[in-house]
Amino acid sequence: MKVTVFGIGYVGLVQAAVLAEVGHHVVCVDIDEHKVAQLRQGVIPIYEPGLAPLVEDNIKAGRLEFTTDAAVGVEHGEVQFIAVGTPPDEDGSADLKYVLAVAKTIAQYLNHSTVVIDKSTVPVGTADKVRLMIKAELDRRGVDIAFDVVSNPEFLKEGAAVADCMRPDRIIVGTYDDKPKDVIRELYEPFNRNHEKLIFMDVRSAELTKYAANCMLATKISFMNEMANLAELLGADIEAVRKGIGSDPRIGYHFIYPGCGYGGSCFPKDVQALIRTAEQNGYQPNILHAVENVNNKQKQRLPQLVHQHFGSDLTGRTFALWGLSFKPKTNDVREASSRVLMEQLWQAGASVQAFDPEAMEEIQRIYGVRDNLTLVGTKEAALKNADALIICTEWQQFKAPDFDMIKQQLKQAVIFDGRNLYEPERMARKGFSYYAIGRGESVRKINESY
Ligand code: UDX
Repeated sequence: MKVTVFGIGYVGLVQAAVLAEVGHHVVCVDIDEHKVAQLRQGVIPIYEPGLAPLVEDNIKAGRLEFTTDAAVGVEHGEVQFIAVGTPPDEDGSADLKYVLAVAKTIAQYLNHSTVVIDKSTVPVGTADKVRLMIKAELDRRGVDIAFDVVSNPEFLKEGAAVADCMRPDRIIVGTYDDKPKDVIRELYEPFNRNHEKLIFMDVRSAELTKYAANCMLATKISFMNEMANLAELLGADIEAVRKGIGSDPRIGYHFIYPGCGYGGSCFPKDVQALIRTAEQNGYQPNILHAVENVNNKQKQRLPQLVHQHFGSDLTGRTFALWGLSFKPKTNDVREASSRVLMEQLWQAGASVQAFDPEAMEEIQRIYGVRDNLTLVGTKEAALKNADALIICTEWQQFKAPDFDMIKQQLKQAVIFDGRNLYEPERMARKGFSYYAIGRGESVRKINESY
């Protein structure tokens, strides 16, 4: 099948590569000439496991092409994906200007019937706007070409994007009527062989499904972070509580890990966007407000613990920081807790020596060269002469470090762990002051240190 994908960001590129891999002929269109030139040579702008070979192989096989020429893309596609960004505008609503610009572009060049697929995460009602935009432009051109618009939100996780896209849990497709269903079935047939993944529904429900899924997941995390803070005050251990409640299948073990707050390009943005949508429709979304507030506070938790131990003035102190990305296996630092932490430490006069396996370039790009940030090549180098170690991301290589070496390198044996990687008792035996999230032991340590 001939597929066109507008927007080669995270979602667009992964989707395009995966559709090419199963045999479709995919043309990707983006306005960024540099990105297109790089991709043509197989250089991909993001770090995502398995993506580089997939892109390379499919370019070689002639199934994956990149262009800045929208006319070529529109001419090619039996289906046209809109996968451009929807950044939050000032009030947190999703900004639709890129989505609508692509809709207009499609209509400007369209000369055969097509199915337009909204893949970007867009507020409820966007498909209507896309449809109107295309219709208006076709009318302006004085042509009558049949087209359908469907909503087909993406659920991939960064770091597992290729696998998620290859083996989706579900494929949500919102349609206005039955017309586009056969084309959609054909498009997704390779992913739908073993059991039925396609869930057809109306367009608005599909659009809301995406937000409801992300907001539900964000709610689970904020709920657990609230329980963790409570556990700390009560001298209980949230890790025991997590296992205790996860064993109830109605709750489940997934996505109930407390930590230093959720980040990334989706949860913070989508929670805010759904809040705005609710408010614009005269509804106060109390749970969503709480989810957002708890998360913002949770990002302050590590700086708070640092101040509890070292006092409010951190002038002259250096902190080793392990993990900058918002989660492991990605170089993405959007809304990462590490950034809130670093900014607070800098404000209090401290310097940071940081290591991350993938995200250091991103951090460098954002903060530039500065005296109070040193990015180092190994986790060991980050420790050298630092006052304490702080962990923000649970990369595998941080899970079983050489604790004796950590002790030797640090000025004081102090660890602030935003991801609960270690056992408090073991850390105490090894002579560390160990602060974690919602663990009774670390609370007792804090109390002792008063
Ligand atoms: C998320 C959704 O999972 C995905 O379905 C959607 O399409 C896009 O948004 P992603 O942003 O890639 O994907 O990250 P995810 O793995 O969901 O993690 C988000 C954040 O939540 C991370 O900062 C992570 O550290 C945090 N998290 C996750 C927790 O703090 N605790 C958990 O139990 C799980």
